[in-house]
Amino acid sequence: MKYDVKDLKLSGAGKNRIEWAEKFMPVLRSIKTRFAKEKPLKDVRLACCLHVTTETANLMITLKAGGAEPFLCASNPLSTQDDVAASLVADYGIPVFAIRAESNDVYYDHINACLDMHPILTMDDGADLVSTLHTKRRNQASEIMGGSEETTTGVIRLKAMEKKGVLLFPVLAINDSSTKHLFDNRYGTGQSTIDGVMRSTNMLLAGATVVIAGYGWCGRGVANRARGMGANVIVCEIEPLRALEAVMDGFRVMPMSKAAKIGDLFITLTGDIAVIGPRHFKLMKDGAIVANSGHFDVEIDLKALSTMSTKKRDIRPNVVEYTLKGGKHILVLGEGRLVNLAAAEGHPASVMDMSFANQSLGAEWMLKNGPKLGRKVYSIPQKIDMEIARLKLASMGVTIDKLSTEQKHYLTSWEMGT
Ligand SMILES: NC(=O)c1ccc[n+]([C@@H]2O[C@H](COP(=O)([O-])OP(=O)(O)OC[C@H]3O[C@@H](n4cnc5c(N)ncnc54)[C@H](O)[C@@H]3O)[C@@H](O)[C@H]2O)c1
Repeated sequence: MKYDVKDLKLSGAGKNRIEWAEKFMPVLRSIKTRFAKEKPLKDVRLACCLHVTTETANLMITLKAGGAEPFLCASNPLSTQDDVAASLVADYGIPVFAIRAESNDVYYDHINACLDMHPILTMDDGADLVSTLHTKRRNQASEIMGGSEETTTGVIRLKAMEKKGVLLFPVLAINDSSTKHLFDNRYGTGQSTIDGVMRSTNMLLAGATVVIAGYGWCGRGVANRARGMGANVIVCEIEPLRALEAVMDGFRVMPMSKAAKIGDLFITLTGDIAVIGPRHFKLMKDGAIVANSGHFDVEIDLKALSTMSTKKRDIRPNVVEYTLKGGKHILVLGEGRLVNLAAAEGHPASVMDMSFANQSLGAEWMLKNGPKLGRKVYSIPQKIDMEIARLKLASMGVTIDKLSTEQKHYLTSWEMGT
C-alpha cells in the first residue's frame, strides 16, 4: 500500500483519539452500521482531500465499511494530525498522504498521489483537488462520476467554474445542507476558533475587544462565543444585510479602518482576500493579536506585514511576533491559516457528525445519480438533510411534535382566513 505519513509509530495515540471522536458521532455510526451490511459503495475508488483529523478518520472508516476504497490527502498543509494519519494507515489500511507542516510542493505532490490512484468520486474541502484535476490533469476528469465539496470557499470556487462553463463533472455542495452550515460553520467554527486562540495565547477574553471580520455563519458563531466569554465584540462586514443583522444582534459594527485602532484580537472569517492589510497594521495597538479562521491563508496580508517588520520571531507554539519599524509588535496565530485547525483540534466531533453524515450519504447519492446529472453544483436533497437532523435529535434523546391531520390540511390549504 502506498502512503506518506510522518511516523507510523504514532498510530497508537491516533487510534485512541479516533475511537474517542467516534463516541461523539452517533449519526455517522448508524450510517456505518448500515453501510457495512449493504455495501452501497462497493469497489468505489474515492479520493478525499480533507483536514486529516479524528473526525475525518471516522468518515474514512465509514466509507470503507460501505465497500469503498478511500484514500486521503490534506486540504491544508497545517491541519494534519500526524498520529491520526499514522493510525489510518497502520490500523485501518487506508492510504494517507499528509504530513503536518508540509511545504506547498509536498502538499500538491500528495494531492497528485491521490489522483494517481484514479478515483471515480472526489471529496474536497476547499476545492484544491478538483482544481488540480481541472488544470493539471484534465484528461483524467472523464473518469470521474462526481464529487462533493465541504466548505463555503470551495463551493464559491466550484460555482465560479460552473458559471464559466469549465466544470467537468457534477459536484455536491455539502456546505449548502442546513445540517452542515447551520451547525458546523456556526457552532463548530465558533467554539474551535476560540479554542485555537486560547491554546496559542491563553489570553483572557473577558474585557478584551475582539474584532470579527465577516458576519456569515462562521463569523456569527465566533462573535457570539466571544461575547459569551465577556469580550466586547466589534463586527466588520461589507454586506448591508449581514451588517444590519450584526447591529440588531447587539454588536458594534464599523469598518476595519476604525476597528483596527481599538481591537485587542482580530479574527477574519470572510473567505475573502487581504481583509487585514498594511493600512490596518499601521493603526493597530502594540500587542494586537491577529488570527484567521477562513479557509485560505489570504485573509491577512502577511507578506505586507513581513515587509513592514524589522524582526520576526516564534514566541510561543503557533504564535509569531512581528516587530514593526518604530518598535510596535503584532502577533500572528497559526501562520494566518485556519486557527482552529492549526492551533487546536478543529471542530468537535459531535458537530462533524452531521457534516460527515452528509458526506457519506452524499457519496451514496452521487453514485446512484451521478450519470443523470449535468456539469453543475448540486445541493443534497432536502429529504437527506432532514433525515440527518432527525437522526441527530434521536441520538440526543430529543423528541418533537408531529403535525396532526387537521394541521397538515390547514398548512396546505388557503380557504380558511380571519
Ligand atoms: N475554520 C473552519 O473550520 C471553517 C469551517 C467552515 C467554513 N470555513 C471557512 O470560513 C469562511 C467563511 O465561511 P462562512 O460559511 O461564514 O461564509 P459566509 O459566506 O456565510 O460568510 C462570509 C461573510 O464575510 C463577509 N465578507 C466578505 N468579504 C469581507 C470583507 N472584506 N470584510 C468583511 N466582511 C467580508 C461576507 O459578506 C459574508 O457575510 C470560508 O472561507 C469558509 O470556507 C472555515
